[in-house]
Amino acid sequence: MKPMIHTSACILLAAVTASVSGIALSDSVEEKYQRACHVCHATGVANAPKVHDPEAWKPRLDKGMDALVESIKNGLNAMPPGGMCADCTDEDYKALIKYMSTPKG
Ligand code: HEC
Repeated sequence: MKPMIHTSACILLAAVTASVSGIALSDSVEEKYQRACHVCHATGVANAPKVHDPEAWKPRLDKGMDALVESIKNGLNAMPPGGMCADCTDEDYKALIKYMSTPKG
């Protein structure tokens, strides 16, 4: 009996470790938002367009997606270059803009 318990504990531990490192390798849009953008865009610090507030985002979206991605990468007024996301790609920024500019679903 004893060796069996030991084995299943090991499998369980391996499964937990694997799922944790899986998250670290490919964060979802929401996880990236929470980690990087939330600190300012949750409450609209320093005129930041608020998350899930399409009205606040409308004038921003009118600039076009590529211009917005450039704003993030270069920084804009109180927003630091990259928006505090060290590992975001252009595609991530586009997904984050969509995430923030649509109502919570
Ligand atoms: C330190 C605070 C801060 C963080 C962190 C931050 N932002 Fe911002 N963001 C701002 C502020 C402030 C503005 C408004 C700037 C202005 O128009 O004066 C802004 C504006 C924007 C805009 C509109 C740009 C434009 O051209 O109108 C986009 C898009 C944006 N943020 C995306 C992001 C994304 C995506 C993240 C996370 C990866 C992020 N921001 C993280 C503060 C922040």
